[in-house]
Amino acid sequence: MSTERIEEFLSAVKSAFAANTLVKLKLAGYHGSEPDLKSIDVKKIVAKGTEKFSFTFHYKTRDIIKNQIQPEAVGNLRIALKDEFRSAQLSTTEFDMSFERNGDKVRIKRTEVEGRDAPSTDHNRAKNRPLSETNKPYLHALDITGKDGVVRNDAQDKFRQINKMVEIFAPLIQAIKADKPRILDMGAGKGYLDFALYDYLANVANRPADIIGVEMRDGLVKDGNATAAQSGFSGLTFEPGTILDYDASGADAVIALHACDTATDDAIYKGISAGASLIAVAPCCHKQIRRQMEAGNPNATLENLLRHGIFLERQAEMVTDALRALILELHGYKTKVFEFVSDAHTPKNNLIVAEKDGRVGRDRDAVLKQIADTKEMFGVEQHYLERLLGL
Ligand SMILES: C[S@@+](CC[C@H](N)C(=O)[O-])C[C@H]1O[C@@H](n2cnc3c(N)ncnc32)[C@H](O)[C@@H]1O
Repeated sequence: MSTERIEEFLSAVKSAFAANTLVKLKLAGYHGSEPDLKSIDVKKIVAKGTEKFSFTFHYKTRDIIKNQIQPEAVGNLRIALKDEFRSAQLSTTEFDMSFERNGDKVRIKRTEVEGRDAPSTDHNRAKNRPLSETNKPYLHALDITGKDGVVRNDAQDKFRQINKMVEIFAPLIQAIKADKPRILDMGAGKGYLDFALYDYLANVANRPADIIGVEMRDGLVKDGNATAAQSGFSGLTFEPGTILDYDASGADAVIALHACDTATDDAIYKGISAGASLIAVAPCCHKQIRRQMEAGNPNATLENLLRHGIFLERQAEMVTDALRALILELHGYKTKVFEFVSDAHTPKNNLIVAEKDGRVGRDRDAVLKQIADTKEMFGVEQHYLERLLGL
């Protein structure tokens, strides 16, 4: 009797899957042998043209997603309903069906519904991200997708992060007047931003740019160039060397994401010297100003506030970046600072975005005074960026 009921429930699941009316299936009341498993959510996806059941296993502290084609998925559901889960709730666009098992006894209840839409089954487009096509050599080379071109479960955060970067940077680049902007990414590392941004600008926005990743680690440069060639990204190159030694003339945008310590200042300096329309930096660790604040003579009230190391460190980061923003303003840039990735990814999550606004030096004296007052207040002798710029 319970076998018949289970098959009746599975038959409803299979019909909803085939007819694209499946909204969600939830399995709860787990009593199997897997430690910490709580429940499973099941939905339909279409990945690379293949229809699959997508299972999200909810554990106490994490979720694991597994995608399976129909025969395998239905076989696993049969075992789950028979031996492992006491209840299940099927939601479709036409009806809800509840499943309750108590020992060998199974009860099924069906309720008709109206006006419910089926969710999108497109695995990639469902999340409405700028990079919707994931079967790309560079995503595989960066370990974001597997051989099948599908984003790996353990790379979902990284994929979300690079999409977020594209969302932020693409409009800034598109606002640059040059026909084919020349973008320098200083301290490019593996080039996550460069590949994603290049792909988006060339293939989605139809607004190609030349992107050059400057990186002092030769191995990363070699790998980056090989992947760019394999991807057919002719306008994306990686060049070996240090930021300060790189000839940045002609750059429309200079970007540096988490370039270490004062390498961020090297990038800002190169951008200002080249007259780049856009300078965008996400600073990394800061040491230079902290050392000066410790050694210097800050305002007496501040001494009380900053005697705890962690406060001093955070304040030193704020002073470092606030001075960077002021120095950019001094050179005719309109500057804003905002959080650009959640600190679940990294605690270094501020982005300084400076856009040249054509009013170079308009408030020069006022800005110079703000810089001098800030330095005096915090006992700072000289910001490394001032030294680079000869201020
Ligand atoms: C923390 S990683 C960030 C990489 C990349 N920007 C990202 O966000 O994924 C910093 C990179 O900057 C490079 N780097 C640091 N200082 C540099 C300098 N002065 N010149 C060139 N590359 C530098 C390092 O080798 C490293 O690959």
